[in-house]
Amino acid sequence: MYIVLLGAPGAGKGTQAVMLADKKKMVQVASGDLFRKALQEQTELGKKAKVFMDKGQLVPNEITIQMVLERLSAPDVKAGAILDGFPRNIEQAKALDKALKEKSRAIDKAINIKVSEEEVLKRLSGRWVCRNCQTPYHETDNAPKVKGVCDRCGGQLYQRDDDKPETIKNRLQVYMKETAPLIEYYKKAGKLVEVVSEGGPENVNKKIIAALR
Ligand code: AP5
Repeated sequence: MYIVLLGAPGAGKGTQAVMLADKKKMVQVASGDLFRKALQEQTELGKKAKVFMDKGQLVPNEITIQMVLERLSAPDVKAGAILDGFPRNIEQAKALDKALKEKSRAIDKAINIKVSEEEVLKRLSGRWVCRNCQTPYHETDNAPKVKGVCDRCGGQLYQRDDDKPETIKNRLQVYMKETAPLIEYYKKAGKLVEVVSEGGPENVNKKIIAALR
């Protein structure tokens, strides 16, 4: 299956992608994680992306589309993937549809994870992410068993540079302008499922798994 996770920054796309990947034995392809990994490795792509990420803007399509489609051509995602953070605008969605069509494949479901702006601010200001496997935690609502340490891989947790209040505001504005139109795009294609992100990650995950059946 190819599943797209849609939703505002902090909606819980990464959290749900990790849970689905573990439970359904699928591979998560997260564009933000790919950029952060490139930055950790100090590649040219990582350095270019950082300029946009620090401002809460989208990285240009020509860089992002090529990076994600290249990742989707790897053998481990032949059977499908959970797409987290990509596509982020109509041009990316069309490029993805075209690339999958060339392999006689298509997006199976697009899951829109709905959350209020107030909840986004609370979630992102308390978020900690694993430096190694990128699993997200929250200091009160989804805390790791040991403070500062990832439950899944033992990696060190850190706070993202773009989780500052002014950058979060920009990311939300960009989401409304560029990404929210994808809800209609997948609705028209008959692929949209909407899930309200309330009641903790496990509860949201149950709703998503039910919607995928
Ligand atoms: P990206 O890394 O994709 O960030 P984002 O979309 O802004 O989303 P987040 O990772 O902030 O949130 P999330 O929905 O994954 O929430 P999470 O699960 O962590 O992108 C970063 C930047 O990279 C962009 O701004 C852009 O510059 C660039 N970029 C990336 N993709 C791009 C693309 N396709 N095109 C162009 N540029 C691109 O959860 C958040 C917090 O809430 C955590 O603390 C978590 O523990 C908690 N939480 C989760 N679910 C729940 C719940 N149900 N109840 C309570 N708490 C919860």
